[in-house]
Amino acid sequence: MNTAIILAAGQGTRMKSQTAKVLHKVGSKCLLQHVVDATRDYVETINVIVGHNSQSVKAAIKESKINWVLQEQQLGTGHAVQQAVPLLNDDSTCLILYGDVPLIQSVTIEKLLIKARTSGFSLLSVVLDDPSGYGRIIRDTNGLIQSIVEQKDASERQQNVKEINTGIMAIKCSLLKKYLNELKPNNVQGELYLTDIVESAVKDNVNIASFLCENASEVMGINDKKQLSRAERFYQVRQAEDFMSSGLTIMDPSRFDCRGGLTFGNDCTIDVNVVFEGDNVLGNNVLISPNCIIKDSKIGDNTSIFPNSIIENSIIGSSTTIGPFARIRPDTNIGDHSKVGNFVEIKKSTIKSNSKVSHLSYVGDSKIGDDVNIGAGVITCNYDGANKHQTEIKDGAFIGSNSQLVAPVSIGKNATIGAGSTITQNAPDNKLTLSRNKQSTIDKWKRPKKK
Ligand code: UD1
Ligand code: CA
Repeated sequence: MNTAIILAAGQGTRMKSQTAKVLHKVGSKCLLQHVVDATRDYVETINVIVGHNSQSVKAAIKESKINWVLQEQQLGTGHAVQQAVPLLNDDSTCLILYGDVPLIQSVTIEKLLIKARTSGFSLLSVVLDDPSGYGRIIRDTNGLIQSIVEQKDASERQQNVKEINTGIMAIKCSLLKKYLNELKPNNVQGELYLTDIVESAVKDNVNIASFLCENASEVMGINDKKQLSRAERFYQVRQAEDFMSSGLTIMDPSRFDCRGGLTFGNDCTIDVNVVFEGDNVLGNNVLISPNCIIKDSKIGDNTSIFPNSIIENSIIGSSTTIGPFARIRPDTNIGDHSKVGNFVEIKKSTIKSNSKVSHLSYVGDSKIGDDVNIGAGVITCNYDGANKHQTEIKDGAFIGSNSQLVAPVSIGKNATIGAGSTITQNAPDNKLTLSRNKQSTIDKWKRPKKK
């Protein structure tokens, strides 16, 4: 039986923020949720130690296995773990993780637990070129772990050690309880250090099984905004690599951001500087060109999204093109073989198949049929200053350029609207409707001359 303790009570002073440290986000998911997600499948319960902003931390995390444990005063990592002691069963193995080390992978957790099962105590270390800020792993001449010394307490020689404590360990609960009892605040910070249990275990002749994490980014601790941004990039590149392994073409993984879930079919291509937010679904052979933002949307097979377009909470059909410079606002549904061109904004509208809105238009609160052609600069006037009104454009209609459709209004099947019209009443099927002053020419008019 396994249980977990995740430490998340600290304030995170170095973040210089009102938000609890563990609620800062990587890939738009908060740090603590990353750790909870990596742990969930290996343990029966997850004891999360909270203190600073505990209410907001509790509210932000979704997980049924969590026992919330309050650490009223933050007297150190050892003190934090002591708070969970009454919840620990002697026979189980306890996994200890830090809420500010979010990129830990499930496979690493699994290895650590397997090692702890045989030795009773396993810990994860890593070798860093720049170990500053971390606790150093001190070994004897035989390479056996002797202790962990925090940066602030380390001698000059100890500070040169590049193998550091990731903070992540697994230990039999009976041993953990025993060593937690022996902690003393004999250090520069006057705190109870969890890391001091290592020395107790060594005195107790426990052979600590350590193992080296190959990828330093997996165990990086986040204490300030610089580290947060580094963690974000590591996370994005790792995610991009996973997507590429599944067949997604990503032009440059260092300019790829997916903040949420992404599913895709075969032969999709994501060009540079695309941001995915929320949950997105791409069909087969979808192209997303540079500088697009796609949020909570579904895009059909063979559809291309051209540069600098924004699509939010919408459904785009197959073999359709959007952009460049198009904005598709929430609750829009665009059919197959359609086109939304440059500088077009569509809001809360349905456009069926084979229809085109090619240039410079605003279409809001509208229902547009099949085979409709909307000319350049057409505006649906959906708002009267107080209420929103609907526009309907039936199948096969042609709306001449620079027309305004003053809603509520309906344009009939195969109707044609003459360019430059302001349409305030319903237009009948199959006919030309226009509202335009007759053109005239003044024969004797002369251009004024400069005096
Ligand atoms: C800690 C380790 C250090 C390790 C590093 C890895 C100790 C003494 N040091 O240092 O060896 O290299 O992590 O990232 O353990 N917390 C509480 N209650 C407290 C104090 C801390 O819940 O009273 C939580 C914090 O919210 C944080 C975690 O424990 O999530 C680690 O605390 P932090 O102060 O960041 O420790 P480090 O100095 O990074
Ligand atoms: Ca830390």
